[in-house]
Amino acid sequence: MRSHLLNDLTAERYRRAVTEGVERVAAQLARTEKPFTGVTVDALAPRIDRIDLDRPLHDTTAALDELQDVYLRDAVYFHHPRYLAHLNCPVVIPAVLGEAVLSAVNSSLDTWDQSAGGTLIERKLIDWTAARVGLGPAADGVFTSGGTQSNLQALLLAREEAKSDSAAKLRVFTSQASHFSVQKSARLLGLPPEAVVALPVDRDQRMRTVALAQELRACRADGLIPMAVVATAGTTDFGSIDPLPEIAELCAEHGTWMHVDAAYGCGLLVSPTRRHLLDGIEHADSVTVDYHKSFFQPVSSSAVLVRDAATLRHATYHADYLNPRRAAAERIPNQVDKSLQTTRRFDALKLWMTLRVMGAEGVGRLFDEVCDLAQEGFRLLATDPRFDVVVEPALSTLVFRCIPRTVTDPSRIDHANLYARKALFASGDAIVAGTKVAGRHYLKFTLLNPETTVDDIAAVLDLIAGHAEQYLGDSLDRAS
Ligand SMILES: Cc1ncc(COP(=O)(O)O)c(C=O)c1O
Repeated sequence: MRSHLLNDLTAERYRRAVTEGVERVAAQLARTEKPFTGVTVDALAPRIDRIDLDRPLHDTTAALDELQDVYLRDAVYFHHPRYLAHLNCPVVIPAVLGEAVLSAVNSSLDTWDQSAGGTLIERKLIDWTAARVGLGPAADGVFTSGGTQSNLQALLLAREEAKSDSAAKLRVFTSQASHFSVQKSARLLGLPPEAVVALPVDRDQRMRTVALAQELRACRADGLIPMAVVATAGTTDFGSIDPLPEIAELCAEHGTWMHVDAAYGCGLLVSPTRRHLLDGIEHADSVTVDYHKSFFQPVSSSAVLVRDAATLRHATYHADYLNPRRAAAERIPNQVDKSLQTTRRFDALKLWMTLRVMGAEGVGRLFDEVCDLAQEGFRLLATDPRFDVVVEPALSTLVFRCIPRTVTDPSRIDHANLYARKALFASGDAIVAGTKVAGRHYLKFTLLNPETTVDDIAAVLDLIAGHAEQYLGDSLDRAS
């Protein structure tokens, strides 16, 4: 069994096994004609149930054959141009290479003595990102498992900085379009259910700052504490960017922590043409960036950044066996002092390899391409009478629904759209997401693949209309 341990004696076995795995994935990617086979849970579950984990195959090739059957063949493939559903990007090869290296070396970024150079690489990437945000010389941050964890940590710091003796008094202001992790974080942090105040949005799905101003004033007047404002730079559904400069002013006026959730919009940090859309982010006290959304990185790759490194102390605990207090005094860089996690992957390496091979502008150009594509998709939808599109995209999502002319009952229209999404998924021809707008069911394209074309969008719209038509037994008017 020792022959399976990766070490100096097994380098050749490692090379062969990983190469065989890479060959399988490469072959699968090459022959994937649709983003999904449409396999059902009922069809797949017995194949996995049948496998007896107590009877190993003792053979890499056999295990890969089996994996083909239970996973690779039927996985959902984000690299396919007709995967248009959630905030998943196709990944860039330098990052995948980084992933292979980091799992083999297996550094753990909690302490310097488990990582060495990895710690410094992560720190440099944090400094680089913070500089792109414009957070100033005292900025810092740490890589996290994703936007949810980044938001949680940011709100933890905000809660501590609010210095309230009563969680019941704390309020967090965010827009109705912000990510649900804001609510989740508030609950995890012991805030009452009413702590998160979801503010209305304007027609472009951006937080109404007039409402924010009113709420902040009312909060103080009621003897409550405005713990944080969570602005979103790239809402999950609409890609809308809250008015960051106005929000920053209000936060400064009321002494409130400003967190910007740029999980999606962070790609703008490297965009050659759209960086200005993030203007105002430099005033934030904390920022969430998800490289695994708009930097084309494999899951997981995210960071939370802070304007003032000292605020990270709220996540610091010392253990004699790991990161004793004296280590900090000796200036030994133990990243665990800043993180909610202990053992932690060297995810930063993927971004490092990406920047060293492609350069930041290369990444930004890819993100620009999908934003341009969303504009073209919007024009297509806006001129097609079969569809209603909600808002012109700031980034790369399109929220729309089929509106059969012959049907006026809103709930039938809802069901036709729900049906179309399900039928499309079952066919595997394309995958789209769904959401609700003003209580009605809509469909959503999240465009993160520069290989997707306007023709793909047009073809998927035809498929959707076809499925909706089939559901209604009705014929929809074609674009004039
Ligand atoms: C705006 C926003 N914030 C946070 C998150 C959560 O990120 P993660 O899924 O990486 O935890 C998402 C995920 O879609 C998001 O869209």
